[in-house]
Amino acid sequence: MVRILFLGDVFGNAGLDAVERHVPALREELDLDLVLANGENVAGGAGITARLGARLLAAGIDCLTLGNHTWRRDGTGAYLASAERVVRPANYLRTLPGRGMLTLPARDGTPVTVLNLLGRLTLEPACSPFEIVDRLVTEAQEASPILVVDVHAEATSEKAALARYLDGRVSAVVGTHTHVQTSDATVLPKGTAFITDAGMTGPHDSVIGVEAELAIRRMRTGMPVRFETAQGGVRIEGAVVDCDAATGKASSIEAIRVPVS
Ligand SMILES: [Fe+2]
Repeated sequence: MVRILFLGDVFGNAGLDAVERHVPALREELDLDLVLANGENVAGGAGITARLGARLLAAGIDCLTLGNHTWRRDGTGAYLASAERVVRPANYLRTLPGRGMLTLPARDGTPVTVLNLLGRLTLEPACSPFEIVDRLVTEAQEASPILVVDVHAEATSEKAALARYLDGRVSAVVGTHTHVQTSDATVLPKGTAFITDAGMTGPHDSVIGVEAELAIRRMRTGMPVRFETAQGGVRIEGAVVDCDAATGKASSIEAIRVPVS
């Protein structure tokens, strides 16, 4: 059995701090074999840098996934071209830097493949995730029976449809991007663990991570407002998946919400 924790979007300094202070202990407490996290919001709420990515990986995260904010920071292309444990959405143009899928060893050496896909609604992938996922799943199955898919998407329907489409072919489909954890964690009939959204590892005294007053002002006035990341109500949120090392089938999925401030 392989136990994998997938952390919902790590948001800003508060999320990074929570990871650095608590993930090493969580690895022990939950007896984790692998820790994955969506890291696309770590740089001030939008994007990632080499320095911040290195801090997350040093804190006990084994592999980072990204999403619609992948390219927000200068230098991300060069970072992704050389980063060994970061994946960006596979349905961006293949000619862009980085990779969409990666196989890495869990604690006992069992190979686990991580795939990152971007949804279509309000986001801007180069193609539909449905268009490329069959090829990628086949490719992943050659490397390992265990495949975890981060579907970074706005629409609950798109995430649910993708999970049902992949049921029995991947170990887990974990949704990210909305920063609001859903209460639907379940193992689908053919053995794929699914949660529509893993939530946010970051400041929940906010509007999805942003200082509430600033988000409200932008929405009330329709004018540009410079966002600041919030600091209060920090929680670590994610999902713990147990799956069989030989078959890749999931036996359980549990959402976690750990208050840390
Ligand atoms: Fe996002």
